Amino acid sequence: MEKIVINGGKPLMGAVEISGMKNAAVAVILSSILIEDRCVLENLPNISDVTISLDILRAMGANIRRLSPTTVEIDTTAIMGGSAPYDLVRKMRASYYVIGAELGRFGRASAGFPGGCDFGVRPIDQHIKGFEALGAVVTVDNGCIEAVSPGGVRGGQIYFDNSSVGATINVIIAAARAKGTTVIENAAREPHVVDLANFLNACGAKITGAGTDVIKIKGVEKLHGCTYAIIPDMIEAATFMIAAAATHGTLRINNVIPKHLESISAKMEEMGITIEELDDAMIVSAAETLNRVNIRTLPYPGFPTDVQPQICVLLCLANGVSTLYEGVWDNRFRYVEELKRMGAKIKVDGKTAIVEGVEALSAAPVRAVDLRAGAAMVIAGLTANGRTEIEEIQHIERGYDDIVGKLRSVGADIRKINIPDPYFYEKAN
Ligand code: EPU
Repeated sequence: MEKIVINGGKPLMGAVEISGMKNAAVAVILSSILIEDRCVLENLPNISDVTISLDILRAMGANIRRLSPTTVEIDTTAIMGGSAPYDLVRKMRASYYVIGAELGRFGRASAGFPGGCDFGVRPIDQHIKGFEALGAVVTVDNGCIEAVSPGGVRGGQIYFDNSSVGATINVIIAAARAKGTTVIENAAREPHVVDLANFLNACGAKITGAGTDVIKIKGVEKLHGCTYAIIPDMIEAATFMIAAAATHGTLRINNVIPKHLESISAKMEEMGITIEELDDAMIVSAAETLNRVNIRTLPYPGFPTDVQPQICVLLCLANGVSTLYEGVWDNRFRYVEELKRMGAKIKVDGKTAIVEGVEALSAAPVRAVDLRAGAAMVIAGLTANGRTEIEEIQHIERGYDDIVGKLRSVGADIRKINIPDPYFYEKAN
């Protein structure tokens, strides 16, 4: 067991490199089941969700070689269907892409129910609706999902009831090798949907419209390998932007696509923070005082739900009362109790958090209740004077590549310590 220890109150200064995007990387890696060939994937983040995705492929029979810390060669020729191990699949939400990929390649798929962060109910009805529209018969039994499409999947017409990133990606994957054309309406427009489509197109797929709410997939019989670089992680970039502003620092954030960050930059500018946009970098300079704002999370290009806990820390430090409405998930405020330990004044009323600004947060022992909640605790710890300790950091490591090392390189006093048992815990302190 490890925890993060932060001695806060130091402004972040300098430059930081953003890694490849988690949510694109896991989709691209698992979709490679469909390729039946050798692919080289570059700019992969070094995070546990990527390790788990690669472990799933390896367990299914893929040949995987690491060419550099961020580059992996994957050969999925020898993969066998129905062999994704349950204990790996349940560790990660995105493992349900195995179903789309197996269905597309073998005409049948089976995998355990996926895991992931706990935001209340996380249904998969839209995935199932999509697979059924492609001619599959889907059953969910004993924690297992099975999809069978005798004779292979065929093109179909799908209108999603809500814009689901996972369902859009899963149906694109399943339809890429279908007989005929698939049209997805009310598709998710997130940059990782576009990245997945770009990857599959580089492998010979015929996908158009990704990034809009109507996506067309003309099925092809076979795909081929390619070399592909994952896009930068907009959520990691946003986390560093907020950390810079919260600590009264100035940070250059390199390897970003500024367009992906527009909703975040706009809100931060409204708060008084200065943001300079370069071609593939952003420079964030803190404001003397922060204005209160109201924020509503929405599917892309709206303000991302995956930045909601982190921006909440900034709202805690603003002048006056801000509101934060969660428009995507039912229950994404579990971290609020942890922030309150640090002196935050937040009242949650259903899907809205009412945040009253305080002078400063105070250091305290807290938990990372999920991935982005953990990132929020790190930012809170960086702003608070004194020593903050964050437990359950395995959640943070699912999605942030070397967050401790990157923050140290820009002036944070942050480290990881082992807590093997209470005796050693005492000694480490
Ligand atoms: N939904 C349904 N039915 C479905 C699927 C989704 O009702 O079949 C609902 C969900 O309950 C939710 C909304 O649709 O209210 C959006 O869910 P979506 O399917 O878009 O989420 P996801 O694909 O499970 C991805 C990211 C999440 C991110 C959401 C929203 C990955 C691996 N995960 O999840 O990322 O919060 O989109 O943008 O891509 C994170 O990185 O911290 C994270 C949780």
